[in-house]
Amino acid sequence: MTTDTTSYRIGVKFTPYDWAIFASNQFGIYNSWINGSTVFDPTMGLGNLLEALIKIGLSNGLKINELPTNRLYGNELNDYFYTEALARFKKEYGLDMSANFSNSDFFELETKEYDIIFGNPPWMNFTDLPAEYKTKLKPLFIEYDLVQDTKKMLLGGSRVDIAALVIQKSIADFLAPNGNAYFFQPLSLLLNDGAHDSFRRYNVKGTDFSLEEVYDFNEIKVFEDVSTRHGLVHYQKDKHARFPIQYYRNIKNEWLEKRAAPILTITGPLSIFDKDAPSPLFDFKSIPLNKDSKPRQGINTSGANRIFFFSSYEEIDEHNCLLNDEILLPKIFVFPLLIADNFKPNNGHARRWVLLPYSLDGKPLELEVIQSHALLWNYLELNKSALSNRKGQMIQTWRERGYWWALLGVGKYNFTKHKVVWEAYGRKTFQPQLFSGRWQANQSLQAYIPMSNKKEAQRVLSALKNPAIEHYLHSLKMDGTMNWAQPGKIRKLFIFSD
Ligand SMILES: C[S@@+](CC[C@H](N)C(=O)[O-])C[C@H]1O[C@@H](n2cnc3c(N)ncnc32)[C@H](O)[C@@H]1O
Repeated sequence: MTTDTTSYRIGVKFTPYDWAIFASNQFGIYNSWINGSTVFDPTMGLGNLLEALIKIGLSNGLKINELPTNRLYGNELNDYFYTEALARFKKEYGLDMSANFSNSDFFELETKEYDIIFGNPPWMNFTDLPAEYKTKLKPLFIEYDLVQDTKKMLLGGSRVDIAALVIQKSIADFLAPNGNAYFFQPLSLLLNDGAHDSFRRYNVKGTDFSLEEVYDFNEIKVFEDVSTRHGLVHYQKDKHARFPIQYYRNIKNEWLEKRAAPILTITGPLSIFDKDAPSPLFDFKSIPLNKDSKPRQGINTSGANRIFFFSSYEEIDEHNCLLNDEILLPKIFVFPLLIADNFKPNNGHARRWVLLPYSLDGKPLELEVIQSHALLWNYLELNKSALSNRKGQMIQTWRERGYWWALLGVGKYNFTKHKVVWEAYGRKTFQPQLFSGRWQANQSLQAYIPMSNKKEAQRVLSALKNPAIEHYLHSLKMDGTMNWAQPGKIRKLFIFSD
């Protein structure tokens, strides 16, 4: 069964003419077009990018029939936009573009080569696409080298942006050898850890393409109502990426010339640094660490904080405690939970607590064990329906195995004697601290390195306090965001052994 996708509105944000003209000026797109190049926008919307080239020609004093409009090509999925584009080129310039514009899903469009691709693809995470479109596109993410297999797609891979797929396909199937491609695009493809590592191999179906230059709009809002960080990026086909590249960042309406390169791993996110400075961590030596101590995110209740987290704790007797002034639970399953205040000086006392129905080997308690603790069983049973109805692939897998009381991010690493913990979310400084005892880290707010030996924990702590590390984190341009110092980034600083 094929789905009619022509009425889809996926990632619809048209590029203002001024910015399309800006792109043409930076990269000489207009001049190449006038001098014989074909130009193609694979997801053209109303055709603003192509029309901007006409506008430049007219403002240079040329007449419409003196411009090579027969070398402008576009394609659009949505039939309304496609029809509007044709009507607009007719009305404004008297042009019949029906031989050059197509109304097709780009992923079904017949392959043809163009000298220049000038595009602004839809931006949307795979996860957020319409369900039946996801089914259709899933194999393409694998075919165009963005995800290794369907399983990965369900986990981290699902955060891959459809923009990456449009770019990979454009370069692989529609760009002439050595051709240039220019895209307005989300910068997550270049700057975020994880989902876009495969894109950053800059290779599609065995063909290399290079990342040449980036304009990071930073504080400028090119598109209304878009909070995603975006930029204008130049790629060239059949060329190896050579780093560092030129990276222009707009700060207070000025384009500052910087340099960018992946640091620590080839497919890692770009670090951005001053053009006369050495790259961050240029003389850094990886920190040795046992693989059992890999950096981790905190525990995740899958939306059930209300059930697992508590804001007051009172010891009742040797075995039991009173939580939130009303809930009695066995002390052995209740742990202090870190909050931001605990990272301030002299703030070592607990203010939040978390229930972990787990054994110290990191496995969820078996039903009989829970039932042998009457208070624990009563409490969990009371919340059974809310706990069983939690959404998300991974928590559902636990539920299917019978463990409807499970949390995510809990393993034997939660129960080591020491943890080197840092605030990973929304911060601008990197200040790891050592917490000993039963402390637990909270979801993505904090990340930690579990350590059983105090001396080792102090060694790791002092290695992480190297100011070069904070400098490196700043170069990733994630200050104040959820991605500030998540475990994936910190993991790359270590070399792991058994
Ligand atoms: C961000 S807008 C940009 C439009 C135009 N390139 C511009 O810069 O003004 C993305 C466009 O891609 C279209 N689109 C989304 N998925 C598509 C697909 N699979 N094939 C072709 N066009 C698609 C959307 O309808 C939308 O018009």
